[in-house]
Amino acid sequence: MSADLADFIRGLPKAELHLHIEGSLEPELMFELAQRNGVELPFKSVEEVRAAYAFSNLQDFLDIYYQGAQVLLTEQDFHDLGMAYFRRLAADGGRHAEIFFDPQTHTDRGLPFSVAIEGLLSAMKAAEAELGVTSKLILCFLRHLSEDAAFDTLKAAEPWLDKLAGVGLDSSEVGHPPEKFERVFTAAHERGLLRVAHAGEEGPPEYVWQALDLLKIDRIDHGNRSLEDDALVRRIVDQGLTLTVCPLSNLKLCVVNDMVDHPLKRMLNLGLRATINSDDPAYFGGYLQDNWMAAATSLGLTRDELATLARNSFTGSFLPLADKAAHLAEIDRYLAASA
Ligand code: HPA
Ligand code: ZN
Repeated sequence: MSADLADFIRGLPKAELHLHIEGSLEPELMFELAQRNGVELPFKSVEEVRAAYAFSNLQDFLDIYYQGAQVLLTEQDFHDLGMAYFRRLAADGGRHAEIFFDPQTHTDRGLPFSVAIEGLLSAMKAAEAELGVTSKLILCFLRHLSEDAAFDTLKAAEPWLDKLAGVGLDSSEVGHPPEKFERVFTAAHERGLLRVAHAGEEGPPEYVWQALDLLKIDRIDHGNRSLEDDALVRRIVDQGLTLTVCPLSNLKLCVVNDMVDHPLKRMLNLGLRATINSDDPAYFGGYLQDNWMAAATSLGLTRDELATLARNSFTGSFLPLADKAAHLAEIDRYLAASA
């Protein structure tokens, strides 16, 4: 007998390719860390924090997200944050994650660069040993800050270059086009790092073109607004680039008004290599399972489409080819067993 949809999705081997680790800070852990570190929060209770999570755009969210991150002070805090996320990932059938972190959010508060990265690397190691979940780390530059600040961050990361998979670009998109970071992305590439960027979440198709042509990205984060430009869609399909799509994030930040209007199914029909991701799960109402379920039920995704999305999550990852092949074979075995 075939499993019901929720069981089928949970059991499907999958990877997460768009996850901001600071966005996985649940209000409960926020309070625990605030108490542990003697940090004053502008909220009285977990319920009050959750009630504040009503956003009408990206900036609304970012203001509260940067505030929440202030409770993170020690390597242990970042380790605990990472482990809490990896446990949720494993529970949702996640086998691998490529996670973003925003070092400037922490160094600008006076933390040494080492604190966030060492805490996260120790969680990644523990997650592999304890949960069998593999992961990679991507350093994001905050695009509302200057090119010089991004260069300073890349310099601070020098001792950890072999521990990083790549660089990304996040924060306030409109008004901060990719071209502002062309030189620092070239410098990151020269240091052996892969490149990704948020583009076309709120920003226009022109920003996606710039991310492709100037930043020479290996993967597109979000990319929703690419669909407004047929030539851009053709370019992304021809180049075989993966899009890391985030359904519940798009709904919470009003990138889409209703999940039934979400472009994910259209992306698949156009031949785009879309994937499903949670972005900032503590703020947007759910982890991988919730995002997959919301998309599957609202868009009526078939099991074939769900299998394609799972395959895309590994083919679009930065894993070595042999690892990708092993995960794809595991998906095939799962599909054969659940047919
Ligand atoms: N967009 C841009 N920047 C971000 C996001 C996002 O969805 N989440 C965390 N930083
Ligand atoms: Zn994001």
